[in-house]
Amino acid sequence: MSIIITGSAGFIGFHTAKRLIKSGEQVIGLDNFSNYYDTALKEARWKMLEESSNFTGIRSDISNLNSIKDIFSKYKPSIVIHMAAQAGVRKGYKNPQMYTSSNLVGMLNILDCCRAANADQLIFTSSSAVYGISEKLPFSEKDGTSMPLSIYAATKQSNEAMAYSFSNLYSIPITTLRLFTVYGPWGRPDMAIYNFISSILNEKEILLYDEGKMKRDFTFIDDTIEGIIKSMNANTQTQSLSPPYNVFNIGAGRPIRIIDLIEIIEKELNKKAKLKFEKSHFGEMKSTWSDITKIRNQTSYIPKTSLEDGIKIFVKWFKEYYQV
Ligand SMILES: NC(=O)c1ccc[n+]([C@@H]2O[C@H](COP(=O)([O-])OP(=O)(O)OC[C@H]3O[C@@H](n4cnc5c(N)ncnc54)[C@H](O)[C@@H]3O)[C@@H](O)[C@H]2O)c1
Repeated sequence: MSIIITGSAGFIGFHTAKRLIKSGEQVIGLDNFSNYYDTALKEARWKMLEESSNFTGIRSDISNLNSIKDIFSKYKPSIVIHMAAQAGVRKGYKNPQMYTSSNLVGMLNILDCCRAANADQLIFTSSSAVYGISEKLPFSEKDGTSMPLSIYAATKQSNEAMAYSFSNLYSIPITTLRLFTVYGPWGRPDMAIYNFISSILNEKEILLYDEGKMKRDFTFIDDTIEGIIKSMNANTQTQSLSPPYNVFNIGAGRPIRIIDLIEIIEKELNKKAKLKFEKSHFGEMKSTWSDITKIRNQTSYIPKTSLEDGIKIFVKWFKEYYQV
């Protein structure tokens, strides 16, 4: 059995691949090493994966249908974990086109390749961003997702619609995972916790939107990976649905204000942040909070890492990796 993971040089794809390799699975990793953030970090993650004979890394772009088709017909994956995407909300404000090839064309190509390869299951990472304007908290899988606040969120929402239709038309078992702000070692430099740690250590100003009152349901990477593996193993449940399509939130279920998060990081670094207050950004959600009842009931997923512990682990990695 082989598993294709797209975006495996990325933060979550890397951790997912590492976990599956460790449990003896044959993983084929795809990534185009996009330059959205420092590619040295992607190279370092990839190098670690390539140390295992269970990993085959292929530098390839999912927007190129022919090359993806060849890879699928060569490796005949039974499971596909699709994580390659143009992530991030803010940069898209000035450049909405940046999402088209990876998130729209790429998603359609992956779906079509899963159909042609007759894959047993597709797991796809969507985002809490699809809940958009919804003010009902916590966010449940039953809530509407038709009012995304950013182009990124709009692409994820349309990815979910494409996935549902493929599942309906071709009976492909598909599980959509709505991830809530993931953080931890090997994390993305454009994300809040990474940026706050780096800025505090380097005595740089932190731009704080909306007086730091925005709330996020920060989820430690190990807990996210646990949720991904558990939902993969729940595929028989997905197969029994009509169409065989399932959606899970994966979060910590414990939102925190950004200003309080900064305080935890300051404590861990024993250093004060320099804050600059800014008006809120209109692509941003005021709050995210996952209702994890569904995944807990169907897969026994329970997030275990407190924010304080997760930040301690992240800071330790950060200092080692950057030799601070
Ligand atoms: N990190 C989070 O908090 C979070 C939250 C919600 C959803 N997600 C989703 O989870 C997935 C992984 O996110 P991440 O944080 O690891 O991001 P990431 O940017 O670290 O990883 C994505 C990887 O996909 C690759 N990629 C992008 N376009 C590609 C293309 N056309 N062809 C091949 N590879 C391509 C990139 O080079 C990158 O290595 C994404 O789909 C993201 O939208 C992440």
